[in-house]
Amino acid sequence: MGAFEHLKAKNTTDIKSNHLYGSGMATAKFITFEGIDGAGKSTHLSFVADLLRERKKAVIVTREPGGTTLGESLRAILLHEKMHLETEALLMFAARREHIAQVIAPALERGEWVISDRFTDATFAYQGGGRKLDLQKLAVLEQWVHPHLQPDLTLLFDVPLDVARARLDATRTLDKFEQEKADFFAATRAEYLRRAAEFPQRFRIIDSTQAIATIQEQLRGIIAGLDR
Ligand code: TYD
Repeated sequence: MGAFEHLKAKNTTDIKSNHLYGSGMATAKFITFEGIDGAGKSTHLSFVADLLRERKKAVIVTREPGGTTLGESLRAILLHEKMHLETEALLMFAARREHIAQVIAPALERGEWVISDRFTDATFAYQGGGRKLDLQKLAVLEQWVHPHLQPDLTLLFDVPLDVARARLDATRTLDKFEQEKADFFAATRAEYLRRAAEFPQRFRIIDSTQAIATIQEQLRGIIAGLDR
């Protein structure tokens, strides 16, 4: 994936992306969806993909953990098996390394927009915030796995815990993370919000208690702003 091209691109003045894949005006964007379980992000994923397709963009939709054959195998383990906290974080990043190599970077290089249902912010929020793994260790892994890649836009779907819990209980059989208690989700949500405050340029917080139609209007505006 052209390490030298990245260096070349670094010297240009008109880079608006948070990654160095693709080139010039045609640079495709990397969008991530985040939020605690039950925040309702999945409802809006295909809406945003369709918005971009209406705007004549090639788009791929993918997810973490997962997105590759290996990543999906790791997902099944991560979502259902108990393990040491650091093993969990390492496997999240292992799946991510494969996802970037096989899916995300090649798509951006081809000029395709990438929408990922979760990315590294989820590791900071869940393993860092929720499970209390040292954020510095996660920052080291982030630097190792994707030193030159950050989302151009991160949509953080935010809801109070009781709303999220009610949505989860109503709709599904709970996986390992979804079975966690309220204090886990409070810490996860707090870390998401802390990161949103730390990286205000790429984060947009969506109040996910609003009506779906209201959220969609908001998303329309955000996407129009990103694709100028
Ligand atoms: P989720 O994206 O909510 O999918 P679904 O809607 O099918 O349940 O599930 C992924 C779970 O993995 C979610 O509980 C958050 C967790 N997760 C982490 O703990 N760390 C990570 O780095 C990622 C990507 C996900």
